[in-house]
Amino acid sequence: MQTKIILPEDRIPKQWYNIIPDMPGQMAPVIHPGTMQPVGPDDLLPLFPMGLIEQEVSTQRWIDIPDEVREILSLWRPSPLFRAHRLEKALGTPAKIYYKYEGVSPAGSHKPNTAVPQAYYNKIAGTKRIASETGAGQWGSSIALACQMFGLECTVYMVKVSFTQKPYRKSMMQLWGADVIPSPSNLTNAGRAILAEHPDSNGSLGIAISEAVEDAATREDTRYALGSVLNHVCLHQTIIGQEAKEQLAIAGDYPDVVIGCHGGGSNFAGIAFPFIADKANGKNIRILAAEPISCPTLTKGVYEFDYGDTAKMAPISRMYTLGHDFMPPGIHAGGLRYHGAAPLVSQLLHEGVIEARAVGQVGCFEAAVQFSRAEGIIPAPESSHAIRAAVDEALQAKEEGKEKTILFNLSGHGHVDMAAYDAFFSGQLEDYEYPSEAIQESLQHLPKVG
Ligand SMILES: Cc1ncc(COP(=O)(O)O)c(C=O)c1O
Repeated sequence: MQTKIILPEDRIPKQWYNIIPDMPGQMAPVIHPGTMQPVGPDDLLPLFPMGLIEQEVSTQRWIDIPDEVREILSLWRPSPLFRAHRLEKALGTPAKIYYKYEGVSPAGSHKPNTAVPQAYYNKIAGTKRIASETGAGQWGSSIALACQMFGLECTVYMVKVSFTQKPYRKSMMQLWGADVIPSPSNLTNAGRAILAEHPDSNGSLGIAISEAVEDAATREDTRYALGSVLNHVCLHQTIIGQEAKEQLAIAGDYPDVVIGCHGGGSNFAGIAFPFIADKANGKNIRILAAEPISCPTLTKGVYEFDYGDTAKMAPISRMYTLGHDFMPPGIHAGGLRYHGAAPLVSQLLHEGVIEARAVGQVGCFEAAVQFSRAEGIIPAPESSHAIRAAVDEALQAKEEGKEKTILFNLSGHGHVDMAAYDAFFSGQLEDYEYPSEAIQESLQHLPKVG
C-alpha cells in the first residue's frame, strides 16, 4: 500500500479554479471605506496591480497560471499527498486518512502558492516595492521570498508580540531581503494613533494590515499584498485541491470529508474549493473548516459587512466577523487570529455548503504530538486545528464501526514554532474560549452599509 503519492512536475496545475461562477447565491459587493459605495477596479489600483484586481472580480471558471509562476512553483510542487497509515494504526480506526503536505515549500507553508503570483503580477505592472503585514511570520516570510525571486523590495509590518517571540521568522524574512518593522510602529498614522492610546500595544493583525495598507496607498512605487481572505488569494491556493484530487485518483480513493484549518480562509479554500465543485455536481461530500475557540470567527461571529482592518482603511466586505477591533488573547499559541473570514468561505458557510467547528488549543497540540509521533512531521500550530478535526472524525468512525475516507490539509511545518510546543509540554497552554460579551461589544462597531 502506497504511503506517498507524488505527481511529476508537469502535473502542476496549468489553471487556477475560480469558484465565483459556481457560488450559490449572489456575492455581496465590496464597499469603499471612504465613500461607503461599492468599489470599482479603479478604487483598488493604489493597492493592487490590475492583473490581481481582474482576478478578484473574475467570473471565468478557469484562469491560466503564467509559465513564470509555474516555473517557481516547480521548486516544491506538486506537493506530496500522504496516506497516514501509521496514524490510522495508532488511532485504531477503520477510517482512511490522507493529508496533503504544504510544508515542503521554502517558507514551510502553503503561503508561497499565492505570494509568487502576487509578486509576479506586481512585477509586470511595474511595482518596485511591496508592503505587507504578518502575524506569526509565515506569510511575511513567503512574500519576502517571492519578492526576492522577482527583484522587488519588500517591507513587512510584523505584529509586535510575534516580532519578539518569533525571532527566527524575522531572520528568514531578512535573509530573503525584506525590511521587517514591529507593528504598531511610528512610521504610519495608523501605528502612531494606536501607540498614542496604547503605548504597550502587542499589536494585532488588524493593526498591521492598517499600517501596510497606509504605506502602500501613500507611495507611488508601492503596492499592498495580503496573504489570505481575498478572492484572488483563495484562487491561487486551489492548486492544492486540484493536485490532491489527482493524487487520490491514483490511490483509487475519494474523500467523504475534506478538512482545512481556518484563519482567513486561504488554505481551507485551497484544499476545499475543487471538491466543492464536485459537491455542486451531486457528490456526497462534507467540507469542514476547523478554527480556534479563542478566535471563533465562523462559529461565533456574525455574517455582516465589516472592515478588513482596525483603522478602517481596508475595503469593507460581507463576511463572518468578530468585529474589526477584536483583540485576540495573548495566551493563544496557535496562530489563526484574524477577526474576519474570506467572503467566499463565509458565503459558502452561510449557504450551508460547508461546516465549521471550533477546537481548543490543548486538544490541538495533543493531536499534533500524536500525529508527529506516528507520521514524523512536526505540524505548524495552525495546521494542528485540522489534525484535531481529522482525528476526531477518525475516532468517530471507530466508534460507529464505519469506513470513512478523510482528507486534510497539513498547511505547514512547525520547525520555527517550537516555543509553542515548549509551552504545551510545560503545561502553560490552556483553553481560552473568547467571551461572548467581548464579541458582542466588538460587534457594536460594525460599519453601517445601506
Ligand atoms: C501554516 C499555516 N496554516 C494556516 C494559516 C491560516 O491562514 P489561512 O486561513 O489563510 O490558510 C496560516 C497563517 O499564517 C499558516 O501559517
